[in-house]
Amino acid sequence: MNSTLDRVSELRGLLHRYAHEYYVLDAPTVPDAEYDRLFSELQTLEYAHPEWVTVDSPTRRVGGKPLPEFSPVIHKVPMLSLNNAFEDEDIAAFDKRVREGLGVTEVVYDVGPKFDGLAISLTYVDGVLTQAATRGDGASGEDVTQNVRTIRAIPLRLSGETMPAVLEVRGEVLMLKKDFARLNADQAARGQKTFANPRNAAAGSLRQLDSRITAMRRLTFFAYGIAQCEGSVLPPTQSGAMDFLVNLGFPVCHERARVTGAGGLLDFYRNIGGKRPGLPYDIDGVVYKVDSLAQQEELGFVSRAPRWAIAHKYPAQEELTTVEAIDIQVGRTGALTPVARLKPVFVGGVTVTNATLHNEDEVRRKDVRVGDTVIVRRAGDVIPEVVGVVLEKRPMKDVPGTDLFSTAQEPVNSPFEMPKTCPVCGSHAVKGEDEAVTRCTGGLYCAAQRKQALWHFASRKALDIDGLGDKIIEQLVDADLVKTPADIYSLSMEQLAGLERMGEKSAQNLLAGIANSKNTTLPRFIYALGIRNVGEATARDLAQHFGMLDPLLLPLPEGDTERKQDIARRLDLLTQVPDVGPVVAQSIVDFFAEAHNREVVLALINVGVNWPAIEVNVAKEGPFNGKTFVLTGTLPTLGRDEAKAMIEAAGGKVAGSVSKKTSVVVAGEEAGSKLVKAQELGVNIWSEEDLRAALD
Ligand code: IVH
Repeated sequence: MNSTLDRVSELRGLLHRYAHEYYVLDAPTVPDAEYDRLFSELQTLEYAHPEWVTVDSPTRRVGGKPLPEFSPVIHKVPMLSLNNAFEDEDIAAFDKRVREGLGVTEVVYDVGPKFDGLAISLTYVDGVLTQAATRGDGASGEDVTQNVRTIRAIPLRLSGETMPAVLEVRGEVLMLKKDFARLNADQAARGQKTFANPRNAAAGSLRQLDSRITAMRRLTFFAYGIAQCEGSVLPPTQSGAMDFLVNLGFPVCHERARVTGAGGLLDFYRNIGGKRPGLPYDIDGVVYKVDSLAQQEELGFVSRAPRWAIAHKYPAQEELTTVEAIDIQVGRTGALTPVARLKPVFVGGVTVTNATLHNEDEVRRKDVRVGDTVIVRRAGDVIPEVVGVVLEKRPMKDVPGTDLFSTAQEPVNSPFEMPKTCPVCGSHAVKGEDEAVTRCTGGLYCAAQRKQALWHFASRKALDIDGLGDKIIEQLVDADLVKTPADIYSLSMEQLAGLERMGEKSAQNLLAGIANSKNTTLPRFIYALGIRNVGEATARDLAQHFGMLDPLLLPLPEGDTERKQDIARRLDLLTQVPDVGPVVAQSIVDFFAEAHNREVVLALINVGVNWPAIEVNVAKEGPFNGKTFVLTGTLPTLGRDEAKAMIEAAGGKVAGSVSKKTSVVVAGEEAGSKLVKAQELGVNIWSEEDLRAALD
């Protein structure tokens, strides 16, 4: 026996197993580095012995030479489609048809998500993947074997004891939402075309003639059926067939169930509908299949779809509509946000009339113009967004051509331009270099910013002023009764009762709400100030660290040098707070550098806003004194809170992000960008074991 050849097959076995654990079972047993090490060992051996390379070697997943074109593949078993249903009644009717067709009173169904990807047919001969074909027109598709080999969730060789001589598996190739987001970010950064949705991205990636590109695109796969099986006995049910596929090493979706009757089907539809926004992949419905394969056969097909299955679709998450106007909204921090006003369209279960366009660069990149037809997307509770423009539908007009007899066409509408001044207060609008956002420079002079600053101040997580909603704030600002949050506390009964739709009773309630809000907490108070980049968590950290605001409330000194020194000292003080980096620290310093902001804080304290004293975190004495730790990934035995408690008990601090100040990063399985950053910055990296050893 040749021992190098033995090693090659041992390596392939290990790599197959690890890839299956990682991509199919979602339960890796070795760190990525170990996988990479074995992979490159195999690569080296195969490079030295090209005659040993097999089609199912894990090294073949990196893609090969570009093809001139895809070869056609005739499907031995046609790839059919499913009938669609949208309403509950359609489902009751489906169940009735099935029961009557079978002459039974109750039917068991295998139910699961309808993935929004691309159908694929995989053929295995003696357990080795030999062909992968797209659906095409159902009768014939394209040979995409080279590309499919790069998809790590698809086994190149089957596992398990019973190996069919020929097996044809049907399933869906898709791209996870997170991989789609990453791909689009990469594409945009490289100035290349972005994809409208994960389905298009998956399709574009699978139909690449250059499989090395597919290999970089991170596609995944779910099996949902068996088209042919020779040399093995199939289980008698659809759900059994799925278990059979799991044993052979195929990824099968976990969100499946066996249910009975129309009621069971509809419960499943609602249940998955609720989970839909949180699923890692896009689905456009659920599929109900009669579980018994014998019953499936009995029911058969009508034209191109089975009688034994149906797709129950969710409301579309993408629709077409037209842009009626592009308005500018002014946010609390003065950010000007272009918003598309749309011809009302029903999408994702609601009627959408507005969609954010984020910022100027985004509008330019997508080239959205008034009058354009656009794709609008609303997924779950996500804010509706304009995915892209349907350029073919852009309204055009004729313009005279170069001679009397010719005409050319040009768009009727012109590219969007960000206004130079704030549409609310007329102050200059500026865009910082390297910044995407354009801001109004009006500050609290700008009524839009003032309204939102007040709304934020009164909101539930801030001072929580009962009864002070946006309609009242709007009136208070428009009537010039309130300019700063402190003014809220000097409002009188008469002033409030004079507002529209404000009865005496509600005015009294509001006054009580205002009075109550005076007793608050320091974290709430800091959060309520609306300092840029200071959210609830940072406000809590600041309160915990300083226990008071006094160090920040002193005016900056007059002289230039003194001023610079003082700012540096303040930044230094602030960056000692866990999780406060230079950007957040700068925002805080900037906020308190403004005299009017300090005055508002003092005025609020003067009118009686108060909070209980806070016991400041004092670092415990211990071996980790002065050290800042960052935790990342999953540690083998310690939970995050446990590890944090251990570190703090030893006098150390735990921060959320890695910087030059970080002393140690404690990394576990699936550590991501924080580990990379630590490596880049040369920060010490410990395992859980190292942490325990240091405390022993
Ligand atoms: S079963 C006889 N199950 O939907 C057809 N299809 O309209 C059997 N699809 O092209 C198909 N998820 O790509 C089935 N769980 C699922 C599915 C699914 C998505 C797609 C499939 C097919 C289309 C049928």
